Amino acid sequence: MVEITIEALTKEYTNKLAVDHIDMRIKKGDFVAFLGPNGAGKSTTVGMLTGLITPSSGSIRFGKLKPGTVAYHNKLGVVFQNSVLDNQLTVQQNLKVRAQMYERTSQDVLQQVITELGLNNFLKQKYGTLSGGQRRRVDIARALLHQPEILILDEPSTGLDIQTRNVIWDTLKKLQKTMQLTIFLTTHYLEETENADYVYVIDKGRIIAADSLDRLKQTYAQYHLTLTPKDLQKLRVQLNKLGIAPSENKGKLQLIVSDSAQCLTILQRYRNLITDFECRQSDMNDIFVHLTGKEMR
Ligand SMILES: Nc1ncnc2c1ncn2[C@@H]1O[C@H](COP(=O)(O)OP(=O)(O)O)[C@@H](O)[C@H]1O
Ligand SMILES: [Mg+2]
Repeated sequence: MVEITIEALTKEYTNKLAVDHIDMRIKKGDFVAFLGPNGAGKSTTVGMLTGLITPSSGSIRFGKLKPGTVAYHNKLGVVFQNSVLDNQLTVQQNLKVRAQMYERTSQDVLQQVITELGLNNFLKQKYGTLSGGQRRRVDIARALLHQPEILILDEPSTGLDIQTRNVIWDTLKKLQKTMQLTIFLTTHYLEETENADYVYVIDKGRIIAADSLDRLKQTYAQYHLTLTPKDLQKLRVQLNKLGIAPSENKGKLQLIVSDSAQCLTILQRYRNLITDFECRQSDMNDIFVHLTGKEMR
């Protein structure tokens, strides 16, 4: 079931087309990654989804609801790039103050959110003294107090170390299930899309790929074959005869082939000319290079 429908959404700042006619369909219960390099238009899109930025044209609908209505905004929980909580208050005080803003936030909901996010050990600590990862978890808890249906996060893991990022991802994956949340998350880390059900890739304000991760991998599937030759020149000449121009790296030859069958053919044919090999399938990084012709970082 489609929860959010975005059509031809566009934002033009003075002299800058930040988001250029993007279409998205976010399905209920999905974990959607919105991947793009810095300046791609991610935050502008989040701004329009959350009603902070007025689109130049295009539309956003949550079922029949539109941004600007209370009913629409009640369905959204938002974690911004910069926290909105008070450094001088404890975690508990921050959450209580926020909970009081919502009629429907009962003690039970507050307690459930605290438990789900694992905040019990530092409830009495001032928000400003928490580690980056702890702070992020409190930010997420804050966004869930009014029981939204979709959680929108703008680069929640930027600036966190890899272990902390993994904790945040595990937490989000768990919340998706236990609270039946739809999650829409922006990121510039390619590896993070590995956790998503569906991926939109944005570059220069345009969506350049939209698919499940599995299908993206299938579509752009290539195999990267690295050969350790006995005699580099001899092997290179043989490969050239097949119309393959391998690149050289530290005495090894690297080539890109379309499928595993072709890997096997090459390995069998030249087994006497190689001492070792490695064959790996494209990852999200290769896909991005394939789509844009440039490295992401
Ligand atoms: N208020 C603004 N006025 C003018 N240009 C802006 C404004 N906000 C963002 N931009 C530009 O729009 C583009 C997209 O920005 P943004 O949505 O923040 O990208 P991302 O979040 O993917 O890094 C960038 O080129 C940025 O410089
Ligand atoms: Mg941004």
